[in-house]
Amino acid sequence: MQTDLFGDAGLFPLQQQLAEGVCLLSGQAESSMPAIWQAVSDVLQQAPLRQMQTAGGHTMSVSMSNCGDLGWISDRHGYRYSRKDPQTGQPWPAMPAVLKELARTWAAQAGFDNFVSNACLINCYQAGSKMSLHQDRDERDYTHPIVTLSLGLPARFMLGGLLRQDPCCKLLLQHGDVLVFGGPARLRFHGIMPVADGEHALLGKRRISLTFRRA
Ligand code: SIN
Ligand code: FE2
Repeated sequence: MQTDLFGDAGLFPLQQQLAEGVCLLSGQAESSMPAIWQAVSDVLQQAPLRQMQTAGGHTMSVSMSNCGDLGWISDRHGYRYSRKDPQTGQPWPAMPAVLKELARTWAAQAGFDNFVSNACLINCYQAGSKMSLHQDRDERDYTHPIVTLSLGLPARFMLGGLLRQDPCCKLLLQHGDVLVFGGPARLRFHGIMPVADGEHALLGKRRISLTFRRA
């Protein structure tokens, strides 16, 4: 664990390396929020949030959508990346340039250069929604990190180890926070604890996360 790193004269927001390959950029997205929220709203208008099914026939508590060349989907046949939104039969909305560029910048700040994301999964949590412990392993090249932006209600992120039974630590993710995990941490198990009820000024009773990937 490293100590907090402040930039010159406090010009840079708080950046914290939590473990090898895990970097929390606290409040990093705050200054770009109007453009981010506009871009996310545009995407969700074209590809609305929906609750997907698991192969086991369960309905996920999180609603999802995607933008980019590839989108992550789950249905009775299992989960995978797909070029098309199964709900519209159309390609997923293009990834807004502002989001692609920010994801690249954040990855570089965490030490991962040349991160050109081609898939962004948008997760929407309401009070009680959660995401169970899992690995992100459907991508081809694990040299690229996962970059996660949190919007709206706070959530506790569970960060486990490389084995499912490894102990987890919990990390509070708040509106505007960016979490980057890659390198030796790329395949660490992770998840989201049930989101507590609340009201956020911009998003209302929701937490939305954007996870940028190179699929
Ligand atoms: C995920 O692991 O796909 C979601 C993480 C999050 O919502 O912050
Ligand atoms: Fe994940």
